Amino acid sequence: MDKIIIRKAKIEELEIVQKLNHELFLHDEEYDPMLNMNWPFEKAGETYFRNKITEKTGVCFVAVINNEIVGYMAGGMAKTYPYRKIKKQSELENILVKEEYRGKKIGELLFKEFIKWSKAKKAERIKVSTSFDNAGAVKFYKRVGFIPYATELEYDLK
Ligand SMILES: CC(C)(COP(=O)(O)OP(=O)(O)OC[C@H]1O[C@@H](n2cnc3c(N)ncnc32)[C@H](O)[C@@H]1OP(=O)(O)O)[C@@H](O)C(=O)NCCC(=O)NCCS
Repeated sequence: MDKIIIRKAKIEELEIVQKLNHELFLHDEEYDPMLNMNWPFEKAGETYFRNKITEKTGVCFVAVINNEIVGYMAGGMAKTYPYRKIKKQSELENILVKEEYRGKKIGELLFKEFIKWSKAKKAERIKVSTSFDNAGAVKFYKRVGFIPYATELEYDLK
């Protein structure tokens, strides 16, 4: 396969990243019916990715093959809790590799770049959350070294 380049997203690539995030929403809709499918292209979604690309508290990496962006990952520093022994923590917030490029270690390369970023920010741990039924994502996260920690549940009042 051609060379995979992992680098930070450029501001002129904002819309491409939003489109990939929308692909992620389409993928995740099955696992989370509460997802607002318009969010990636709404003002809030655009601002979220603009900040990830331009601000120092967050980051957005892209994977490039032959000048084509085939995957992305966004993350940032995360809230810590005084009752846990972690002073600084980062969070892998969302990641997607285009379907035809999956299984080629691109996700792992994106995550490795985030490890470097997190270490430079002096984070002690990286967290990630995923939908309860997204077994593929859980498998990927475990494969790259995440340890299962919490389970979140919701009660529907409607
Ligand atoms: C999850 C995702 C980003 C992984 O990217 P990828 O480039 O395909 O993953 P890699 O090739 O780096 O895989 C690394 C390891 O994880 C495993 N893995 C990756 N995706 C997997 C899946 N869907 N099911 C089972 N295992 C998976 C791989 O088999 C590999 O392990 P191996 O070395 O034993 O083969 C990609 O599959 C994807 O975009 N999925 C849809 C979106 C999604 O679920 N995102 C996460 C929720 S936010």
